[in-house]
Amino acid sequence: MHRHLIPGLGPSQRAGGMPWSGVREILDLALQCPDPIRLEVGEPTFPTPEHIVQGAVKAAQDGYTKYTANAGLFSLRTAIAKRYQRLYGVHVEPEQVIATAGGITAIATTFIALTDLGDSILLPNPCWPNYEMLCALLGLGVQRYPLQPEAFIPDIAQMEAQIDDSTRVLVVNSPANPTGAVFSEDILKNLLLFAQKHGLFILADEVYDELVFTATPYRSFLQVAADEPHRVVIVNSFSKTYAMTGWRVGYAICPQGLSETLARLQEAFTASPCAIAQKAAETALEGPQEIVAEMRETYRRRRDMCLVEAEKLGLRVIKPEGTFYMMIDITESAQPSRDFAKDLLMSESVAVAPGDTFGPQGEGFIRISLASKEEDLREGLRRIQRYLGTSPKQI
Ligand SMILES: Cc1ncc(COP(=O)(O)O)c(C=O)c1O
Repeated sequence: MHRHLIPGLGPSQRAGGMPWSGVREILDLALQCPDPIRLEVGEPTFPTPEHIVQGAVKAAQDGYTKYTANAGLFSLRTAIAKRYQRLYGVHVEPEQVIATAGGITAIATTFIALTDLGDSILLPNPCWPNYEMLCALLGLGVQRYPLQPEAFIPDIAQMEAQIDDSTRVLVVNSPANPTGAVFSEDILKNLLLFAQKHGLFILADEVYDELVFTATPYRSFLQVAADEPHRVVIVNSFSKTYAMTGWRVGYAICPQGLSETLARLQEAFTASPCAIAQKAAETALEGPQEIVAEMRETYRRRRDMCLVEAEKLGLRVIKPEGTFYMMIDITESAQPSRDFAKDLLMSESVAVAPGDTFGPQGEGFIRISLASKEEDLREGLRRIQRYLGTSPKQI
């Protein structure tokens, strides 16, 4: 891979040491296959709604073609603050909101704002692999708290054993990628107590907050931590809620005082998110919200269909309460999940995410994305079951 580099002038150890996403590894392989069923990547199949696209066109014509403030356009930050009032009844000042290039940049700048070299981040196990990539790049230690098998919710007693003096930030992701778990208010309160007890910040990654299928309304960490606002940074994004992955707009909601730091940090990376995309995001928030409910209902239908199909096929799956992911148990196979995913692609032409990329507790699973088309999901499950029947078995 580095064969064109001059010896001694290769990439840094830090760059070389960044763990690579197993999702991307399978995606790259899938791109070389003729017409595979693509269930690996977490991206809505819907196009971005037309009125949002038109918002961007108008923004470009209106001259939103320059740098914006590092914190983003004030009009967008105001619209985001109003969203929290509308959905969760919490008051957010626009000054607390920092618009970023996707949720990932909000996470990166928050990590930098809250840590020094050698500090550690406490991550769920399993979790989205990009948190660990960032830690590797930023010289941060990774600690992992196990999520209970089956329901994939945290066990506070077990968390105590994972931390030490270097721990600075507890990452909470609900609804969770890859498990689809949604944490109850009680669990969120216990996580807050844990963070209080150990003097930790909480980064609450809520990018799937509008993709929840439970009857009980979703609780944002902002509601739970109303009395501890200095402890919590909320991360959210337009990617999943409005089918806007390619526009790269996300945001952080910070305690008063920390937002200035995040805004300044953006100068070093992106300066700000794209001005046109910020106006498109504003259009998304100010336009009709039925589209969000419609997309959610589609994902719910696909989830329910997959649960029925999996049962018929005898596949053990974890029922997701939110997001558009579903974990499938492959422990009856003797193969590590990465090998399983590669062989499945080669022999059955189905691309899935290998569980090991989400952390040690993801091993024994593969993850499929319910954002894929129904016929692909149905046929994909059938082929996974067929492959499971022929793969090497545990003895
Ligand atoms: C848990 C989680 N957080 C954050 C993100 C970031 O998304 P984006 O950078 O597109 O906003 C993702 C994307 O897959 C995710 O799964």
